[in-house]
Amino acid sequence: MRVLSGIQPTGRPHWGNYFGAVRQYIALQHAEQAFYFIADLHALTTVHNPQTLRQLTLDLALDLLGLGLDPARATLFVQSDVPEVSELCWLLMTVAPMGLLERCHAYKDKKAKGVPADAGLFTYPVLQAADILGYDSDTVPVGEDQVQHIEVCRDLAGSFNHRYGDVFVMPRAKVLDASARVPGLDGEKMSKSYGNALELFEDPSAQRKKIMRIPTDSRPLEAPKDPADDVLYQLYALVASEADRAAMEALYRRGGFGYGDVKKALAEAAATYFAEARTRRDAWAARPDDVRDVLRIGAERAREKAAAVLQRAKSACGVGRG
Ligand code: TRP
Repeated sequence: MRVLSGIQPTGRPHWGNYFGAVRQYIALQHAEQAFYFIADLHALTTVHNPQTLRQLTLDLALDLLGLGLDPARATLFVQSDVPEVSELCWLLMTVAPMGLLERCHAYKDKKAKGVPADAGLFTYPVLQAADILGYDSDTVPVGEDQVQHIEVCRDLAGSFNHRYGDVFVMPRAKVLDASARVPGLDGEKMSKSYGNALELFEDPSAQRKKIMRIPTDSRPLEAPKDPADDVLYQLYALVASEADRAAMEALYRRGGFGYGDVKKALAEAAATYFAEARTRRDAWAARPDDVRDVLRIGAERAREKAAAVLQRAKSACGVGRG
């Protein structure tokens, strides 16, 4: 079984990214052959400053290593280090119906808003299909929002196979646990574009200030509160130990506590929960050559696989020397 997923380096990762996806990727590295990559080519559709893109790419590698991605178990690489995938993308382009791509959300939403879209955004799902098919991936862990892209990938694999024979492995989406959906500071879904996010590696004292400013309701202190509909509690439950979480739940149900105390407890639990990742990230950041080695070795492994699949695809459709 090969598990594969990609993450775009488009901003600093937050709790939603971690609990919703990255934590689950890291868990899978123990059971399966895992390929994870930083999708810098996809990020080019939104990040247009070269220094920023380079920095975000390196930062994301550090984040993943800090969070526990183990390069001895999983293959970690940067998308653009595997040019075979871009070549494969072209082959898939020739079986991608315009209508199928026109129905894809990213493009459709932009068009609906009257924002001019470029061909990169339009063909984004084809590159994503090449990412997946290029490594004979069986399983693609993704959030709900990416399921459509996996369906496109399966469509393209089916059409190519139908036209040229059995070339691609048919992948399946593994939809990540949505109960891990993380509320933002305003109670909406946590998202960097809503400005309601808690970043994973932000300085603990800055994060504490942010937490202390989370708006709370004005119900009297004495009133018992339902923990299920309180953002502070939901965030606390993600980072507290089971015993502390249960104690906090009881406190909510009993009433007679202040939100200020909950906020302090949340800030503290968050600092503790991510302390190990922070230390590990700092250690990697102090060894940039080692990080480069991880990405180089990852890319070598990935290229070896992608080159074989590309060769298979090219000879099936009659290009190259066979
Ligand atoms: N489009 C994905 C996202 O925005 C990132 C991605 C690129 C990806 N290529 C992929 C995910 C291949 C899974 C498989 O989240």
